[in-house]
Amino acid sequence: MTLFDVYPLFDVTIDHGKACRVWDDMGQEYLDLYGGHAVISIGHCHPHYVQKMTEQLQKMSFYSNSVKNPLQVELAERLGKACGYEDYQFFLINSGAEANENALKLASFYNGRTRVLSAEKAFHGRTSLAVEATANPKIIAPINANGHVTYLPLNDLDAWRKEIEKDDVCAVILECIQGVGGIRMVEAEFLKGLRQLCDIHNTVLVCDEIQCGYGRSGKFFAHQHLGVKPDIITVAKGIGNGFPMGGVLISPKFTPVYGQLGTTFGGNHQACAAALAVLDVIEQEDLVGNAARVGEHLLDGLRQMQQEGVKHIVDVRGRGLMIGIELDVPYKEIRNRLLFDEHVFTGCSGTNVLRLLPPLCLSMDEADEFLAKLRKVLA
Ligand SMILES: Cc1ncc(COP(=O)(O)O)c(C=O)c1O
Repeated sequence: MTLFDVYPLFDVTIDHGKACRVWDDMGQEYLDLYGGHAVISIGHCHPHYVQKMTEQLQKMSFYSNSVKNPLQVELAERLGKACGYEDYQFFLINSGAEANENALKLASFYNGRTRVLSAEKAFHGRTSLAVEATANPKIIAPINANGHVTYLPLNDLDAWRKEIEKDDVCAVILECIQGVGGIRMVEAEFLKGLRQLCDIHNTVLVCDEIQCGYGRSGKFFAHQHLGVKPDIITVAKGIGNGFPMGGVLISPKFTPVYGQLGTTFGGNHQACAAALAVLDVIEQEDLVGNAARVGEHLLDGLRQMQQEGVKHIVDVRGRGLMIGIELDVPYKEIRNRLLFDEHVFTGCSGTNVLRLLPPLCLSMDEADEFLAKLRKVLA
């Protein structure tokens, strides 16, 4: 059997990692400004994470959701405190798409409606309703094109108002910093306006914090920069530092019903051990503060390069350690030179945006190292 060939791969085999560095099977070291697509939050192979995961593995890695799991309870309490949503409820699953799928399902159970509003360039995952809410016709299979979703321009409140006022919108789903869409930022006035409209028209406001959340923006959640509380918040990626998991934070206005949601693997013992170890490190090392400080340093450095007239940089966007560098040329050659000549991993969006999503423990020195390497490649 061969692999189903859906990924265009770099000719690199990553063998091991430590903090913000990874090494290939030839021993070449790389600086990781990509974090395996925003997944590595506390750094590769953090010793505390390795210890906690090993201990859990030796004790019990899985039992089903038919018995009490105190680790889930502890995780919900710890996460509630860490992010400031202590009165919310928590449901655990295995991926970002599943988190959004369950969020929209819950919204539909809540108000009985079936229409969803999503933003142009949004990405919410690849399963049935999550992919329908993703504004990319190339990845929506005919079986998923069920007409539930209307895509609207980001930050154009009038356009969203017109739809919400029809009183048939089940949910609005938004990334407060669009990731795959190219690091596009939701404005505070827009989100506040949406919050009011959702309250008036009984529409559920869902913030997809799968990429921009869990400390990446320099606050625990990106929407917390904008002064609005969503009804439902979805998380994944950084929650487990590479252990596959996702979660849904659910406001007290939703009443749980036995059997309405469920999963075999979600919230298993090993996953909870991963998420608890991640929270330990986020707290002990102040990684949210670090993302804010190092992110600002990187943004300043990149804007400085743009002002100095360094070639190809036309815009720098982002918050914390979620940064987009828009180029006036396709990113491909620049990204390849960063990887193969300078040994730096970066992400990308669309055709012209380099996307930085490093582990949240990136140091000032590593940020400077990246700036120097980018400067060299763009010279
Ligand atoms: C904002 C956002 N939502 C949802 C997803 C889907 O997450 P997963 O790939 O874990 O299903 C992603 C993945 O990139 C994402 O960036």
